[in-house]
Amino acid sequence: MLVAAVCGWLSTLAPDGGAARLAAAKGKAPGPKSEAPEPKPEPPPPPPPDCTQAKCLALTFDDGPAESTGELLDILASRNVKATFFLVGENAAKRPDLVRRTHAAGHELADHGYTHADLGRASKKTIVSELTRTQDAIRNASGVTPVLLRPPYGSTSERLARVTRRMGMAQVLWTVDPFDWRNRDTDDIERRVVKQAKPGGIVLLHDIHRTTVRAVPEIVDRLAAKGYVFVTVSELFGGKLTPGKEYRELESGAGQGHP
Ligand code: NI
Repeated sequence: MLVAAVCGWLSTLAPDGGAARLAAAKGKAPGPKSEAPEPKPEPPPPPPPDCTQAKCLALTFDDGPAESTGELLDILASRNVKATFFLVGENAAKRPDLVRRTHAAGHELADHGYTHADLGRASKKTIVSELTRTQDAIRNASGVTPVLLRPPYGSTSERLARVTRRMGMAQVLWTVDPFDWRNRDTDDIERRVVKQAKPGGIVLLHDIHRTTVRAVPEIVDRLAAKGYVFVTVSELFGGKLTPGKEYRELESGAGQGHP
């Protein structure tokens, strides 16, 4: 058992770097330099696409983090897809490790209220408390302060618009809704999203349901085959979202081929 543990430990310690060192040593005469390979800096991530030209789609995941979020992060990483996560504050406070991991993987973290309250009917005091506590939970876990809010149930109001404007947050709704919270059928969810997707769209999904998470590989593969590129919500709008304003999709651009 000890041997197995040590081997496992060694194999995690000697990834590609070990092989590269060996190859380098074979090709070169031994010298002081070949003993210490220069550390390779991580290449910077490629710039996001221009969504007024490219066929962009923003996948968004609400209500987490939950146990199933880890599985989703693996799926997105394997396909190099970035998404936006609208976190419920009390869930973020319970699972700071998943919040951190989501941020480290390059996804966008956003606010979905602390207790999933109906903010469109809430008092100013409740709205401020719901948003501030969620921002704090996300910041404590990841160092990031979200600037996007998805009001639970899509319920908004003039008052919510005023408060979010003052807090510097834009409101993000959606274009595509497969009702995955009600319909727990992976094939149905996948079919609905693929059918309703359009350039500049925002897809509403819930990573708290495994039936949804398991629809994501096919959704991504089938839409990528149709030429879609997946971006975060901020990337979809070129990083220019106005606080207080509601966003449902990136309005038609000349290059997008829709009216
Ligand atoms: Ni929700």
